[in-house]
Amino acid sequence: MRVGSVELSCAVMTASGTSGHGTELGAYFDLSSIGAVVVKSMKVDPWAGNPAPRVHPVTGGMINSVGLQGEGIAHWRRSELPALESAGATVVASIWGRNVAEYAAAARALGDLGADVVAVEVNLSCPNLDGGAHLFAHDPVAAAEVIAATESCGRPRWAKLSANTDRVVEVAAAVAEAGAEAVTLVNTLMGMVIDVENSTPVLGSGAAGGGLSGAAIHPVAVRTVFDVHAALPGLPIVGVGGIGDTRGAVEMMMAGADAVQIGTASFAEPRSVHMVRVGLEHWCGHRGIAAVRDLKGRAHG
Ligand code: FUM
Repeated sequence: MRVGSVELSCAVMTASGTSGHGTELGAYFDLSSIGAVVVKSMKVDPWAGNPAPRVHPVTGGMINSVGLQGEGIAHWRRSELPALESAGATVVASIWGRNVAEYAAAARALGDLGADVVAVEVNLSCPNLDGGAHLFAHDPVAAAEVIAATESCGRPRWAKLSANTDRVVEVAAAVAEAGAEAVTLVNTLMGMVIDVENSTPVLGSGAAGGGLSGAAIHPVAVRTVFDVHAALPGLPIVGVGGIGDTRGAVEMMMAGADAVQIGTASFAEPRSVHMVRVGLEHWCGHRGIAAVRDLKGRAHG
């Protein structure tokens, strides 16, 4: 199974931000048995994130306003990465910044990592900074500038994009031109929940709202993958958004994804990634499909 030049043992990975920075899911399945552990997005320095409450359940998923909390890249390399390496995990690091210089610094801080970190996902699409007002993923020029500035990470970059913009195909083309080897589609969608007894937004971020994830966004994610694959058939795609079972993963691959990530489903069933990995193989086997990768783009006729 390949995403661009990156060889993965299977097509199913964790989604960034949903299994911590390290081996949190290792208690539930063998981390070396999945395609990759994609860790929560990190910047160079520690970042406190947004005020609580940061997560809230909704019909068909959840909404979060975590705000990219983390201890920074040096801490991750010292305190979390060694355990991932000992577990035999294939690792995809994920980086973010508030501006191009911070993305570049994060990329540099990863430049000398070992071979088990196979790619860097560049998160251009978190809706939880400034309420999503300055999302790089909404602007092809800004997104391309970030990708061009992150080359020093020294490994394939996957640009994580947003379906909040109708320019996603344009943005995908721009980041590919700037050096991204693949796109990860899609991040959470901008949303809000209101406590009707108190007449206030539920999340601590207040008027800034949060990011909606889970089954509720799956059709949006599938449509986005479908559109980007139709427009840019040579661009590798990692599909993410509301996949909770084998059928959801098959759909995403038929839309055009080379591989998939599972996030919100892991909160309810921590073995989801493992279960979908096994399920994909069975699904293909029962239908005489020789390899999971053969599902890619089938819905395009
Ligand atoms: O940490 C976060 O705020 C994650 C955001 C998201 O993409 O939902």
